[in-house]
Amino acid sequence: MFVIKKDISLKPYNTFGLDVGAKYFAKANTVEKVLYAINFASYNKLSVYVIGGGSNIIVTRDIEGVVVNPSIQGIQLQEEDVNFMTFRVGAGVAWDKFVEFAVNNNLGGVENLSGIPGYVGAAPIQNIGAYGVEAKDTIFKVEGIELATRKFVELNNAECSFGYRDSIFKKELKGKIIITHVWFKLPTKPSFNLEYGNLLDEISQYGGVNLQNIRKAVVSIRKHKLPDPTIIGNAGSFFKNPVVGPDAYIHLKKIYPDIPAFKISDDYYKIPAGWLIEKAGWKGKRIGSCGVHERQALVLVNYGGAKGSDILNLASSIQTSVKELFGIELEMEVNVI
Ligand code: EPU
Repeated sequence: MFVIKKDISLKPYNTFGLDVGAKYFAKANTVEKVLYAINFASYNKLSVYVIGGGSNIIVTRDIEGVVVNPSIQGIQLQEEDVNFMTFRVGAGVAWDKFVEFAVNNNLGGVENLSGIPGYVGAAPIQNIGAYGVEAKDTIFKVEGIELATRKFVELNNAECSFGYRDSIFKKELKGKIIITHVWFKLPTKPSFNLEYGNLLDEISQYGGVNLQNIRKAVVSIRKHKLPDPTIIGNAGSFFKNPVVGPDAYIHLKKIYPDIPAFKISDDYYKIPAGWLIEKAGWKGKRIGSCGVHERQALVLVNYGGAKGSDILNLASSIQTSVKELFGIELEMEVNVI
């Protein structure tokens, strides 16, 4: 029988480790159970909230509605030819288990995304990315249930309107769809993406360039830079890397000759938010029970007992000082519930 739990703590369900309550909690491992939870909420006139792996959220207060945790499993082969294999993957599959599966089967496209926490169902929402690769490069389509109509919907890659850490699921469809499955089209003869930072140096320590060694290198770089959420609460990068125009970039470069930047086009330069935050003096700083990680200034951490509002206050102070110093607005990457 499917049980919807009542009055639980969401602490184990968010990687910041925030101790907030949920009135109802439905761990739904089938599409039918997701539908049941939606119907239960509608019958009781309650709102629905979705939490997947909880690795990119901040919950600021107790949730009075129904929290649905779509834990649908399964990686099913749908189509194959000499160049690609297409899989339908349950929203509740741990993202890194899927990457491991792909790499072990000599399929490319996601190896640079090794070690990212969270569930497969969250990958399209913020178009997860790392080391020069984004989830959008392999997502074929997304299946879900529309909350208002309880109808099944499918969005192909173009319909997802993917952008840098962005998609239609963070905009027009925010809070309107529960993703149940994601389809990935993975190349059988992958071309590798090795340009980012010290990736190639790290790979050379493991031998030749192949999917297994890229995965090992990425996991090792991440382990070194990013705090393990099972040890210290965090949600990975807290802010997006801001994009500025050429005039702003040239102006900043005059004042700060060491400012790093990635030229996206003649009109856009991406500046690492971690550098701005570090330069503004925040790296390693602790305010009460939360702070800025000492090895990666883009990551905010909960040392234990912080509230969502404490972290948001810290984020807001960081935004103010970066704005004052550089004239740049930092946009949050995490989703606030
Ligand atoms: N930097 C600093 N100080 C810091 C951190 C970074 O000066 O404390 C500067 C350095 O110059 C460094 C540059 O920023 O060379 C870039 O740093 P890093 O390679 O660590 O990447 P990032 O821009 O900080 C982004 C993603 C990460 C992803 C890495 C690797 C965003 C918001 N973050 O971080 O994604 O793992 O690139 O591709 O785009 C996440 O989204 O949760 C995440 C961890």
